[in-house]
Amino acid sequence: MEGYRIGTVESLRLLRETLIAGEQTTGKLVSVCCGSGCMSSGSEHVREAFAREIKEQELEDEITVKKTGCHGFCERGPNVIIGPQNIFYNSVTEEDVPEIISETLLEDRVVERLLYEDPVTGQKCLYENDIPFYKKQKRIVLKNCGIIDPTIIEDYIKVDGFRALAKVLSQMTPEGVIEEIKLSGLRGRGGAGFPTGIKWETARNAPGKEKYIICNGDEGDPGAFMDRSVMEGDPYSILEGMMIAGYAVGASQGIIYVRAEYPLAVHHLSTAIAQAADLGLLGRNIMGRGFDFEIKIVKGAGAFVCGEETALIASIEGRSGRPRPKPPFPAIQGLWGKPTVINNVETLVNVSRIALNGGEWYSKIGTATDTGTKIFSLVGKVRNVGLVEVEMGTTLREIIFDIGGGIPEGKRFKAVQTGGPSGGCIPEELLDLPVGYESLAKVGSIMGSGGMLVMDESTCIVNIARYFLDFAQNESCGQCAPCRLGTKQMFKILQDITRGDGKPGDIEILLELSDAVKQASICGLGMTVPNPVVSTIRYFRKEYEEHIHEGRCRALVCRSLIFYRIKDYRCKACMKCLTACPVGAIIGAKWQVHEIDQSKCIKCGTCMAVCPKRFNAVECVTGLMEGSGDKSE
Ligand SMILES: Cc1cc2nc3c(=O)[nH]c(=O)nc-3n(C[C@H](O)[C@H](O)[C@H](O)COP(=O)(O)O)c2cc1C
Ligand code: FES
Repeated sequence: MEGYRIGTVESLRLLRETLIAGEQTTGKLVSVCCGSGCMSSGSEHVREAFAREIKEQELEDEITVKKTGCHGFCERGPNVIIGPQNIFYNSVTEEDVPEIISETLLEDRVVERLLYEDPVTGQKCLYENDIPFYKKQKRIVLKNCGIIDPTIIEDYIKVDGFRALAKVLSQMTPEGVIEEIKLSGLRGRGGAGFPTGIKWETARNAPGKEKYIICNGDEGDPGAFMDRSVMEGDPYSILEGMMIAGYAVGASQGIIYVRAEYPLAVHHLSTAIAQAADLGLLGRNIMGRGFDFEIKIVKGAGAFVCGEETALIASIEGRSGRPRPKPPFPAIQGLWGKPTVINNVETLVNVSRIALNGGEWYSKIGTATDTGTKIFSLVGKVRNVGLVEVEMGTTLREIIFDIGGGIPEGKRFKAVQTGGPSGGCIPEELLDLPVGYESLAKVGSIMGSGGMLVMDESTCIVNIARYFLDFAQNESCGQCAPCRLGTKQMFKILQDITRGDGKPGDIEILLELSDAVKQASICGLGMTVPNPVVSTIRYFRKEYEEHIHEGRCRALVCRSLIFYRIKDYRCKACMKCLTACPVGAIIGAKWQVHEIDQSKCIKCGTCMAVCPKRFNAVECVTGLMEGSGDKSE
């Protein structure tokens, strides 16, 4: 397609039709996932092995090898799909490649051992959609991820790419686009859930000729990788969403702010921008409709607070990434003091789907107050770790148990944290809660950008709160005292509790501090950061009390509150623990029952790990040791 330029709406249609007609309909296709997850388990080598083998066997005319973005089921990577049947193979290695070619591609026979096996029913799944992980999902934002090659713009055009832009430019007024977005009910997916149509309208009506569209690809929540996968797997949909936003708002410049530690996303986005510009889809007079738009990428250094919109603007302007109080909101006074729309990656991809299918179509998905879908990155103690896109209103239970496959190793569910580091921990009795902005806020959590961390009974809830506070106090930009000092103080109290130095009254002080930090901070970081503490006290107060008053950590996590001991009636004096203990804390000898010298023990658990299962002589216990006194006195 070199030299081809899409100068009109009609020429886009012609190109799409030519591309589709040119597809080998009988051809065989090997799609190898080259998302970051699968790449880290070796998918690039798998892809190379396919290309090499196919070349050696002179099968290039019959079989095409293609790389795609993330399928979401990274847990099972490298994932490979064999077309035209769409057989789904998981955990594929280089060694499996010759067999896949000879069996599946040449003989139409399935390699059973590479199929996904449902751990609950033991059933093998032939296609992606047979896998329970995918059954309850609805892929709107992720519809192209895992399907198109994210470095070939023609692939995107074949799946209706830029049709939404063409429709908007040729059939709709900017005000009409905003009305359509309003009708859809779309709310920003970056965390706060602000209605996108209203944000755009504010920026459109703000005085000034120069306006900006910024795509927020900072994604600072630890464990979250939704935006990264979309940027890596379908960069074109983001560009299209930004162009539509630009047209609606009256902006001709777009900036994608991506953290520098997402190199694959940066690479795919810059490739997409260059290709779109070559085709005439970016630049001046796009599709001959008098609309000009350019996009550039700015790499962020990866501070959590830089995801906050005013800090992000400061960072782009070359200042240190610190938030400022609002108003004025960026939609009125943003980048370089000009009206600026900042939207999250997922929000912008939704925009291109809404523009094509209509606001009414979108408004019927999800619930009345929360329309559309939301992507969650499901991590922690759950069988199927990965990216999950579900309709708003799907319950936590459906996400964790039906899609996520439940808790591994027969353990019990304890809590789920939604919304990243500033989200709340939701207990088992609320598992039937439908996800939505208000429903989550009601139980003390937030939607955030879609992190979902599942915890089982082996998680200590106080330690979890301490962990998130540690993150928050490190990431506070430090300019406002409640956030800078409040989070430090809260962290110190939580650390004391987990170290067995908790005092009566600590819980009340934590709640007071939480309230002060929430009320008095100038940005969203401070306003939401106490959520993990408040919610864990709300639902798991008993565990805090056990730590403080009984010196007990029921999850056996807090080292200061646990100790190991040897059950003398079970010990066979085999010397296994005695030899393995790294600090020589085991007293005993052959034929002499062992004992642990508590003053030397560092609680590493080696003795328990090496004690033969049939003896089962070492136990880990919690609670105040004899003679150490009651902390509540
Ligand atoms: C501390 C903090 C971190 C944030 N990080 C992100 C982020 O990584 N990505 C994002 O899109 N929004 C983030 N936000 C929200 C943005 O400030 C902003 O609301 C959002 O990008 C607007 O886009 P939307 O309307 O499409 O959601 C963060 C907010 C705060 C307070
Ligand atoms: S990276 Fe392959 S499924 Fe996510």
